[in-house]
Amino acid sequence: MYIFKAAVVGAGTMGGEIAQVISFSGLPVVLKDIDEKMLERGMAKAREIYQRRVDKGKMSAGEMQAKMDLITPTLTYEGFEDVDIVIEAVPERMDIKKRVFQELDEVCPEQTIFASNTSALSISEMGAATKRPHKVVGMHFFNPASVMKLVEVIPGLDTSQETVDDVVMFAESLRKIPVVVQECPGFLVNRLLMPYLNEATKALEEGAATATEIDRAVVEWGMPMGPFTLMDMLGLDVCAHVGQYLYSEYGDRMEPARLFEKLVAAGRLGEKTGAGFYDHPGGESEVVYKMIKELQDSGAVRTGTKFSVERLMYPLINEAALCVQEHIASISDIDMAMVAGSGMTYGGERIGPLAIADKIGLDVVVAKLEELAKELGPRFLPSRPLKLRVRAGHLGVKTGKGFHEYA
Ligand code: 3HC
Repeated sequence: MYIFKAAVVGAGTMGGEIAQVISFSGLPVVLKDIDEKMLERGMAKAREIYQRRVDKGKMSAGEMQAKMDLITPTLTYEGFEDVDIVIEAVPERMDIKKRVFQELDEVCPEQTIFASNTSALSISEMGAATKRPHKVVGMHFFNPASVMKLVEVIPGLDTSQETVDDVVMFAESLRKIPVVVQECPGFLVNRLLMPYLNEATKALEEGAATATEIDRAVVEWGMPMGPFTLMDMLGLDVCAHVGQYLYSEYGDRMEPARLFEKLVAAGRLGEKTGAGFYDHPGGESEVVYKMIKELQDSGAVRTGTKFSVERLMYPLINEAALCVQEHIASISDIDMAMVAGSGMTYGGERIGPLAIADKIGLDVVVAKLEELAKELGPRFLPSRPLKLRVRAGHLGVKTGKGFHEYA
């Protein structure tokens, strides 16, 4: 099915960016919210992205206006009677998402695809709440959606292959790189990023290093931005929510750092509230270190642990190996998704976590994870697919075979 017209429900920053991406490809898109302020914010976000292109000489003011005219803001379901796809980007609560899809069931034609931009929640559960589970699919964009190339396409248990194919083609028409990912909590990229972001926060609250030191070390390692800069951009409420959800689904290895609760309770949600791990503007914040001291003094967190960049990156590699074992995506898709979804590089090359592990040597990664497990706890224990490869002598580039094969 070709997509001629789209709609986005939920006009927060993400909704506005997704509407911009769709209009940029030349398609008309209806942008709906129930809150006029949110709708204005979504339209302002789309305008801001186009304006940056105009300022850089990449587009004329007239072209910008023509693209903006493709976005129709609305507070009702007017315009939904002939849309081919709806992407929901409403708050991350299953009850809200189900309600929105049930409303959409009443106003959209029966062939309309319902896509969810959820960060982690179950697509199958959303599908089951509609009259068209075969048409319900995950379509997960990455922040900033106008820039990041990846779109995860997640079929639920009852999603038809036709729906998956249509959404893959639609994502390509938006100039994105679609990767089909099997349903699991956090899907692929958030499932891999969260242990890394969480470990960065544990290292910070345990006094292993400052936020700036950790961010700098991670950028030197090859990520485009450090974990605290990234989390402040994503929103700490979003990170805390995804973190809690993954903990409830995967158990102890994903137990969230305590600092998240404190920051969210204090309204320090990141760039959007002017303060998160950092002050915006301002950088490092005394308030955060005061919170850390309180956590340490109360005995809620350990103190005196050591920071190393491996402490952050190897749990991500370990989780990627588990995703291979669970067939969440193919080895090359896992690597490609992390490059396109998080901008990961290593040694100047744009390669993903499994190729990075191959370069480092799987035996080296396993030995370091075992050392970290002794020092910091069982969340670091190397996963079976990593150990299996080491036992088989598949150590990576140096033996010609690891996750990938080398000539
Ligand atoms: N919003 C919109 N556009 C932005 C932007 C923003 N916040 N920040 C930068 N850009 C644009 C710039 O205008 C520029 O556009 P151009 O190529 O047309 O000129 C382009 O991005 C590159 O920007 P810069 O050269 O200024 O900046 P960088 O080279 O530092 O790149 C970045 C910025 C692309 C954001 C890069 O730092 C990056 O890739 N960071 C990692 C982001 C990431 O990991 N995202 C995924 C998070 S997980 C997620 O979103 C899932 C969700 O469910 C939680």
